Amino acid sequence: MCGIVGYIGKQKAVSILLEGLKRLEYRGYDSAGLAIQQDGKLCISRKTGRVEQLVKETAKLHYTGTAGISHTRWATHGGVTEANAHPHLSSDGKLVLVHNGVIENFAAIKHFLQGKDYTFRSETDTEVLCNLIAYHYAKEPESNAQSRFLESVRKTLLHIEGTYGIAVMCVDRPNEIVAARKGSPLLLGVGDGEYLLASDASALISHTRNVVYLKDGELVHVTPETFAITTLDQADVPPVVDRITWSIADAELNGFAHFMEKEIFEQPAALENAMRGRFSADGSTANFGGLNLAATDFRQIDRFVFCSCGTAWHACLVAEHLIERFARVPVEVDYASEFRYRNAPLDRDALFFFISQSGETIDTLAAMREAKRKGYKVMAICNVVGSSIAREADGGIYQHAGPEIGVASTKAFTSQLLISALFALYVARLRDMSFSDGVNYVQGLKAAPELVRKTLEQAPHIKEIAQRYAQYHDCLFLGRLSLFPIALEGALKLKEISYIHAEGYPAAEMKHGPIALVNEQCPSVFFVPKGELFNKIVSSMQEIKARKGKIIAIVTEGCELPDGLADEVIPIPDCHEAILPIIATVPVQLLSYYIAVARHCDVDKPRNLAKSVTVE
Ligand code: M6R
Repeated sequence: MCGIVGYIGKQKAVSILLEGLKRLEYRGYDSAGLAIQQDGKLCISRKTGRVEQLVKETAKLHYTGTAGISHTRWATHGGVTEANAHPHLSSDGKLVLVHNGVIENFAAIKHFLQGKDYTFRSETDTEVLCNLIAYHYAKEPESNAQSRFLESVRKTLLHIEGTYGIAVMCVDRPNEIVAARKGSPLLLGVGDGEYLLASDASALISHTRNVVYLKDGELVHVTPETFAITTLDQADVPPVVDRITWSIADAELNGFAHFMEKEIFEQPAALENAMRGRFSADGSTANFGGLNLAATDFRQIDRFVFCSCGTAWHACLVAEHLIERFARVPVEVDYASEFRYRNAPLDRDALFFFISQSGETIDTLAAMREAKRKGYKVMAICNVVGSSIAREADGGIYQHAGPEIGVASTKAFTSQLLISALFALYVARLRDMSFSDGVNYVQGLKAAPELVRKTLEQAPHIKEIAQRYAQYHDCLFLGRLSLFPIALEGALKLKEISYIHAEGYPAAEMKHGPIALVNEQCPSVFFVPKGELFNKIVSSMQEIKARKGKIIAIVTEGCELPDGLADEVIPIPDCHEAILPIIATVPVQLLSYYIAVARHCDVDKPRNLAKSVTVE
């Protein structure tokens, strides 16, 4: 939700900012803007629409300044207009600011500032924040030139309720940027004679792999020569410089048409990474380095509670199925946004898991804090190293799926499923699963990358199917047991990138309502794995067929469907039950992707969405 890039050093800032913004565009793409310190002035350019519009605009302006801040916006307060685009300039023209987050008490502050003759040109909360800094700046003694700018930001933030990642410049201090965070991500890239600020590492990795992850309540004061981190109450913070392990190539298209396509095809590698080093020497169970909880503690757990949002919530549902099925421990799954407020009665010995690709989703983070506040231990399953959720958890499991840039989550999802399967094995082996069943399960997991590779070979066939179904307006996804969450995920994928109305249901539930939607114009995607429910699912398909509904069947290879029942068949390889949700996900990802492409949709940047949702 909104991306921030800042630069200070020896190079011209403009091209570095624009390159960074392009990489962060997945975080929001309503408008883009930048501010450059140049010739004693703050030069600002803003455009509605994509970063490309800003590139065209700034090409005419020949900015040469070596310090700047920039922003790509996902609108919260105020419509998509140039006036609402960041950066925002204070009404006295002294301060300029970019912001990711929401200032909850902006109305009261605005009222206060209007009483002091500050004027406002936009409808945003951000402009209020910028003017409050200007207000404090004006009040700081001029004799205090060295720290006046930094202290005015600090004083302002003490009055702010809400979330922010900000970068600020002051016309009087051309060689300084002040940045801060609370609830929205912000990293400092430490280069050679230059520093970058960014909402995530992809925006700075082409310049440096050395980063400092700022924590909530920290400010960083950056000059071309050095930086210093302090807290809101002025305590010095010794910086911890981390090294990013992935490379710029991981954040590029590398010949694929879209990041979503690339990330779908990266799944075999992502699954291998999720498993690497996580099997016991005897090959019968899983190992995790970061759970920070002894095996004996796991045996005391009465119930696991999994909380997340969106696709990650679907991963929680699969985790529920696998843990209950193999480890026989009850699992509760909640939407993070609901858990936070519904004050659910909880078991005394519950253990919480929060799954989040970005590790920054504010609903998930807030739910995690709520569980912690109640005294529970909380675990995180995250992809982004150093993210807020990963850092605040008591323990966790990193996915190592590499950067996921497409707004629609794909490889992060299947990697979450693999980690859930590993965790279910770990708990099952602490309880009743035998050694030989454990060995068999491990073999099943190890086959996942190859079986996903095999399923990806269906891509040309699925592309053809997609051409035939691209113009429908509605679609049902129907699956049972561990494939019910995959039905939900298939429906979410299709609707978020192609804007086709889609719903996921347990296949047998279809006759309790959704079947009313079925006609020649509403196709159904059925998951039909081999197993005890195969014939029951075939019966559900017959009910759809009897109502002239078209059927796309995702069927285990070798299983025969009655002649003419399915209009389209997508075979998937036979596999261990623990990885069936992973294998079954691939065809619906490809189907959604090719349908969206056929409809000329902007696959990587679907309308109204942003990759990491850092507002409530
Ligand atoms: O970063 P997170 O995994 O916490 O994100 C959660 C959801 O916002 C995310 O999965 C969203 O639903 C995706 N657009 C799905 O493709």
